[in-house]
Amino acid sequence: MSQQSIYILGIESSCDDTSAAVIHNGIVLSNVVANQEIHAKYGGVVPELASRAHQQNIVPVVQQALAQANIDKSKLHAIAFTRGPGLMGSLLVGTSFAKSLAMGLNIPLLDVNHMQGHILAHFIEEENVKKPPFPFVCLTISGGHTQIVKVTDYFDMEILGETIDDAVGEAYDKSAKILGLPYPGGPLIDKYAQKGNPKAYTFTKPKVGDLDFSFSGLKTGILYFIQKKIKENPHFIKENLEDICASIQFTIAEILIEKLKNAVKHTGIKHIAIAGGVSANSEIRKRLQLAEKHWGWTTYIPKFEYTTDNAAMIAITGYLKFLNKNYAAISVTAQARLKVTE
Ligand code: KG4
Ligand code: ZN
Repeated sequence: MSQQSIYILGIESSCDDTSAAVIHNGIVLSNVVANQEIHAKYGGVVPELASRAHQQNIVPVVQQALAQANIDKSKLHAIAFTRGPGLMGSLLVGTSFAKSLAMGLNIPLLDVNHMQGHILAHFIEEENVKKPPFPFVCLTISGGHTQIVKVTDYFDMEILGETIDDAVGEAYDKSAKILGLPYPGGPLIDKYAQKGNPKAYTFTKPKVGDLDFSFSGLKTGILYFIQKKIKENPHFIKENLEDICASIQFTIAEILIEKLKNAVKHTGIKHIAIAGGVSANSEIRKRLQLAEKHWGWTTYIPKFEYTTDNAAMIAITGYLKFLNKNYAAISVTAQARLKVTE
């Protein structure tokens, strides 16, 4: 990478986390994330409330990121921001702020695809963390996406398969809602699952194409199962929460690993990465480590803080674009829908 000394500010506001990060030549100096607690009681992200919270948070979050990095904004070389995909109202806050700041400082603006950001988080410079060589296969699993992506170069990606309905994060969050757990339920299911029996209950796995996913049937299956059990015993959830969570988590991990096995078979590539919020999941991380031993894969698991939405992944992607002088026009607009290949 470049020998120059490059400071990039990254801004992420695609969903319900306001985040700002400063990186210096690919090394993270700060990565501040303000979570929006307000959505928990609604059981999901309320777009209107999210954009309002971003407006409240963005200035203090950016100030904190600069302060933690111990640099003045006049030292920045460029501003990277999430252009999409995401909630339009949320994206507009980060996009407008980034544009104004870049104009005010008279430095380049870098538009970042959020999904590319999740994947390229693997190229953050970290001690003792290996970077995937090209080409590699990345399982991108978040609240909005579930995809298997072949990554041939930083900005040369191909979707090999994806979900035909819900994302895996949604499956986690909706299952959690059925169990009466607050949003986002993924981390809570993971927490309870670790104390439960993964074989206590079985849920039917979907039948779709080799590299595609489907989670809506699983969610419905879980709903009917819980409704039936509650009729027999109104305290069923409370008495068996850990086993229920472990069984759900086991089924989801089985599905994901099976698809990765198919991807290895189809591509012959054994360098396997995971990215996105659900890659924080302990069972998936554990299974991938086992895959190294059992099937000779080399796996790339991001540091925990770069799995769920964060601005460090936006800043590193911006940095890679900056090195290619791939700047955004000041007229660039937010895009609610954007494929990982765009
Ligand atoms: O990437 P992300 O922060 O936001 C999107 O771009 O969607 O992903 C959020 C998703 C949520 O559905 C959340 O429940 C899930 O990631 N998640 C987890 C875990 N941590 C976050 N799912 C399962 N286990 C976890 N430990
Ligand atoms: Zn995300």
